[in-house]
Amino acid sequence: MPIQKLEKIWHNGRLIPWDEATLHVMSHVVNYGSAVFEGVRCYQTQGGAAIFRAQEHAQRLLNSAKIYRIDLDYSAADMVAGMVELVRANRTAPCYIRPIVLRGYGEVGVNPLNSPVEVYICNYEWGKYLTTDEDQGVDVCVSSWTRIAPNTLPAIAKSAANYMNSQLIKMEALMNGYVEGIALDVNGYVSEGSGENLFIVRGGTLITAPLGNSVLPGITRDSVLQLARDRNLPIVEQMIPREMLYIADEVFFTGTAAEITPIRSVDKISVGKGTVGPITRALREDFYGIVRGTASDRYQWLTPVPVKQAVAV
Ligand SMILES: Cc1ncc(COP(=O)(O)O)c(C=O)c1O
Repeated sequence: MPIQKLEKIWHNGRLIPWDEATLHVMSHVVNYGSAVFEGVRCYQTQGGAAIFRAQEHAQRLLNSAKIYRIDLDYSAADMVAGMVELVRANRTAPCYIRPIVLRGYGEVGVNPLNSPVEVYICNYEWGKYLTTDEDQGVDVCVSSWTRIAPNTLPAIAKSAANYMNSQLIKMEALMNGYVEGIALDVNGYVSEGSGENLFIVRGGTLITAPLGNSVLPGITRDSVLQLARDRNLPIVEQMIPREMLYIADEVFFTGTAAEITPIRSVDKISVGKGTVGPITRALREDFYGIVRGTASDRYQWLTPVPVKQAVAV
């Protein structure tokens, strides 16, 4: 989906015109992928625009930066304030928010430490990601590409470089007529989608892979685990052999972009009855209840954005 530009972008603490947020081709990030970033959704709730789990996204950004020895001049609270300021200035909600910390134009060579750290926050309109038909699951495949192995590129950091692996997974899936690919980890256990965490349901138990299987600590994953606890569902974080995907009752993706997307087939083997299962449906309803403001925000997951004339898109 092409980006529709908005008015402003947040750069190192101040708002600049969208068209001025440019980089030199010899910036470190362009040559070596040296960036960490976030993807955040701002919803249009019944009570106005609100950013979903802004604090947790900001903290994950700081964690990613720390792993890569990037010194940030901004705290998590500063980043949350930046997101709010930007959404307010651009008067567009719902929207997707992309904070990004990168190594800019400084020295050439692999050593990143002498290139300046630049922090940007952008936002733009964005709708559904994997499907617009919420009542149909998506058809996915297991990728022939392995997810990045532990002690190579850290999966807990949301770094730009990790998405070269994601791109291979995504392109292969699309070329073969699937909506998304599921990557296995270096030992052959289920890891995650190119941009989503994965859950399965078997015999009423919700199962997801632990972080040790090269998965991003997804904020939607964490939210779904909380919502499942609220419903007293049995939850297990365990290594998932590939074939569990084929005999699961329900399988679904979670992610900021994907939200909660049911999967109806894996490698052309139908999941359960091929329809959206009851646990996926229940968790999705709980999730949408909170982000749409129809249920109480009992965990204070929403940061309101005081936009009087927030434009619903
Ligand atoms: C590789 C990967 N895994 C999982 C997720 C889901 O994480 P979250 O729910 O925080 O968006 C994402 C999306 O950010 C992702 O890119």
